[in-house]
Amino acid sequence: MEINGCAAIVTGGASGLGEATARRLAAEGVTVTIFDRNGDRAKEVAGEIGARANMVAGDVTDPDDCQKAVDQAAAAGPLRIVVNCAGTGWVGRVINRDGSPHDLGAFQFIQNLNVIGTFNVMTRAASAMATTEPMDNGERGVIVNTASVAAFDGQIGQLAYSASKGAVVGMTLPAARDLAVVGIRVLAIAPGLFDTPLLAMLPEEQRNALGQSVNFPKRLGNPAEYGNLVVQIARNSYLNAEVIRLDGGIRMPPK
Ligand SMILES: NC(=O)c1ccc[n+]([C@@H]2O[C@H](COP(=O)([O-])OP(=O)(O)OC[C@H]3O[C@@H](n4cnc5c(N)ncnc54)[C@H](O)[C@@H]3O)[C@@H](O)[C@H]2O)c1
Repeated sequence: MEINGCAAIVTGGASGLGEATARRLAAEGVTVTIFDRNGDRAKEVAGEIGARANMVAGDVTDPDDCQKAVDQAAAAGPLRIVVNCAGTGWVGRVINRDGSPHDLGAFQFIQNLNVIGTFNVMTRAASAMATTEPMDNGERGVIVNTASVAAFDGQIGQLAYSASKGAVVGMTLPAARDLAVVGIRVLAIAPGLFDTPLLAMLPEEQRNALGQSVNFPKRLGNPAEYGNLVVQIARNSYLNAEVIRLDGGIRMPPK
């Protein structure tokens, strides 16, 4: 797919994987709408990118905020690329050390953000994309959702997080089948360990140790490598309905 000149929406685009994706897409001639709860940082990133970026401050769990962000993205050009990066993790076991059960509110919070947030943006963006003129090959665009290797290699304490990322994986094939009729592809990327602000909070020593646990190359992933894959997915029209691990071959141990 030719991406130069089209519009994109990137949720979570104010930080980490989403920020790197927004920068990379803009560098390829895409007009990017950064949709993030952190409005101040979203504004900063959009300002640094320049004319090819704008932003909407809002919450992916709020359908009205999502509609507003999609409308703004669709006004900037033919909306052809949707990247869902807003999300977060949670640590909690089925039963806590004191024998009490996993907190329900925490479990619901993670499903709401990682699953409902992805659903909200994907569905609203697909509606808008379906109204665009198709390209010569009938294609209208691509949706890339962010899963995690935790969808497959869930570690101790990742009950809520793995459930949410498993749901992102599970939505990929039915969404791709639903949207084939309008020429929209749907894929997910399952990242391993990436050097984002999340991991930057860990001491250097611990980050190095995590890097050493990767098969090859023995280091954390660079967010730009995630942004590159989004561009490669967008460009390659024959990629569809697949979950791509981007993880240096890591297989997470129980803990
Ligand atoms: N960093 C990793 O190693 C890694 C590995 C696997 C999967 N992931 C997944 O990748 C995604 C991005 O992770 P990251 O490391 O870039 O995180 P990050 O914390 O650097 O960025 C997440 C962004 O999402 C935004 N956000 C959070 N909740 C939001 C909401 N309700 N509405 C709108 N925006 C919201 C935050 O403000 C932030 O800008 C997440 O879904 C995460 O689970 C990350």
